[in-house]
Amino acid sequence: MTLIEKAYAKINLFLDVTGCREDGYHDIISIMHSVSLCDILTVTAEPADNTAITIVTDAKNLPTDENNLVFRAASAYLSRFDIKAEINISLEKHIPIGAGLGGGSSDAAATLRALNKIFKLATYKQLLELAAKIGSDVPFCLAGGIALCTGRGEQVIELSLNLKKIFVIAIGKERVSTPKAYAELDKLYGDYTNEEKGKENADYTKKIIDLLLGVDAPAPIYNIFEQVTNIDEIDKIKEIMTKNGAEYTLMSGSGPSVFGCFANCESAALTCEKLCRYGYTAFVANSVYIEDYI
Ligand code: C5P
Repeated sequence: MTLIEKAYAKINLFLDVTGCREDGYHDIISIMHSVSLCDILTVTAEPADNTAITIVTDAKNLPTDENNLVFRAASAYLSRFDIKAEINISLEKHIPIGAGLGGGSSDAAATLRALNKIFKLATYKQLLELAAKIGSDVPFCLAGGIALCTGRGEQVIELSLNLKKIFVIAIGKERVSTPKAYAELDKLYGDYTNEEKGKENADYTKKIIDLLLGVDAPAPIYNIFEQVTNIDEIDKIKEIMTKNGAEYTLMSGSGPSVFGCFANCESAALTCEKLCRYGYTAFVANSVYIEDYI
């Protein structure tokens, strides 16, 4: 059986780090949102005497073995449900790699969704558990839409915010290592318990509680990683977006991609064109919700 599954990028409208954990990860609070920029997976699965997983992709420098999250997701699903099958996955990449847009996590989540449409063996809770083992952002990418994510990012609470926004997402040539970005934050914040950090947390806690209660209020826009990612391209992209009418701009994840929120498609398209002319990779993308996943 063959099916096609979209893997949507995520942006972080809000991202704070609140502490170091004993497992080496960090506790975070984030509002993640799916956008229409997506990779496309074609997944074929046939029962077989022995399991074989093959991945082909149009992306240069992307591993196709167990170092690829798609491979790990397929392997985890088959092992969890004791299935022997031949799996072929073709991965058409559009989401920039290592950009803070959750591309790899979303590809893994799409693999789990596709395999479960084919084999129909996992409950949604079991899929979420598998997703959390593959990566911190994979559970959100499985659920999609807009959600408050806590723990190391894997605890997902869907928000009833109905944001229908148009974003321009752009990135330059430089890339950021996520573990290094966390290490830089550790240098700045220690164990994240100082007074200044406490004040910062109090400022946004009320806004987040309101969102959880379903109050129709804008999400707080903030990313702690902006303090440690010193890449000139980020400032330049933000400047171009702001000059061209962005309501707000923010770096996504640990960077270095940047998104700007626009009031209409025309100004978003013009800004995207300008960014491309300056040599950046840029996309127009809009909000994507759970309904789009079905
Ligand atoms: O979970 P994932 O594989 O996406 O994480 C990549 C790296 O980012 C981890 O190895 C860890 O260094 C860092 N990380 C963290 N705390 C988180 C999420 C990621 O320290 N909540």
